[in-house]
Amino acid sequence: MADFEKLVLALKAAGEHTRLRLLALLSQGELSVKDLTDILGQSQPRVSRHLKLLAEAGLVVRSAEGAWAYYRIADPGEKRDLVGALLTSIKKSGGILTADKKKLAAIRREHQNQADEYFSKVAKNWDNLRNLHVPEEAVEAAILRVLGGKKVKRLLDLGSGTGRMLELLHQNYEYGIGIDLSREMIGVARAKLSASGINNAQVRLGDILSFEAGGQKDDLIILHQVLHYFDDPGQVLLKVAEILQEGGRILLVDFAPHELEYLRQNDAHRRLGLSEGQMEVWAKAAGMKIDVFERFENQKQQQGLVVCLWMLSLK
Ligand SMILES: C[S@@+](CC[C@H](N)C(=O)[O-])C[C@H]1O[C@@H](n2cnc3c(N)ncnc32)[C@H](O)[C@@H]1O
Repeated sequence: MADFEKLVLALKAAGEHTRLRLLALLSQGELSVKDLTDILGQSQPRVSRHLKLLAEAGLVVRSAEGAWAYYRIADPGEKRDLVGALLTSIKKSGGILTADKKKLAAIRREHQNQADEYFSKVAKNWDNLRNLHVPEEAVEAAILRVLGGKKVKRLLDLGSGTGRMLELLHQNYEYGIGIDLSREMIGVARAKLSASGINNAQVRLGDILSFEAGGQKDDLIILHQVLHYFDDPGQVLLKVAEILQEGGRILLVDFAPHELEYLRQNDAHRRLGLSEGQMEVWAKAAGMKIDVFERFENQKQQQGLVVCLWMLSLK
């Protein structure tokens, strides 16, 4: 199809009330159909129909995950630029778009509270729980191997939980900082680090998406089993890449795509694992490249989850 026809199609797709609202919402980050439905106050089939039209016109991208589907604005390129241009022209229009934005913020707070509530309940028992689904020994051995015994100046462990990474790697950093949203997790981590005599690390209460780095840049940033608690892991990566020292690296450990839907209800997961393809898109958008990728099958359990490790560096 000629470019002209494609543009007409894209403009037709965007040129409707609900679909413009959807584009404005998705420009804030990747969202599930369920959240979009709650914000717009329209039926799910209706919202899905609008999203399908936007996807057919190439303005948004869909990724299916278990019983849910997530949508994001088109990946960098012409269509993304077009959406950007359309939204710039209505940036100051307020009204319904501002109300949608407020609802989105409320929904994000609610998700965060759910995760926080879950982690405050499980904090004391987390070190036993974390082992359940995961080939932990193999993953930890790989983390040490991939880091190659190199000592970094500053390590930042985001979503540090009970401080296991700060403990495992305490000889790999001069100064380590853990950030976590859960007071209970922070409490357990503090007690553990002090009991192990680790005095080159501290843990602090904070939100990954809004904590102040205080102008400091880090050499190694770790997100170990954290990204699947976010609707938009790409947004987290964008933020994290900003506080990475030149030549620094980001180590990500998370589940491969799976279908254990109950983890959403019982364990506050938002994403059912992260795929290699998605990670490439997120890394690219954050100006990073993937240097190492490894997969770890769970040998202990039939229904065990596969864990993946990614090492990223700035391009
Ligand atoms: C599955 S635990 C992993 C903890 C640790 N990295 C580990 O592997 O044992 C996820 C942690 O992320 C924290 N978390 C979730 N959302 C967060 C946010 N927005 N900001 C900071 N921490 C967050 C939770 O409180 C929890 O401690």
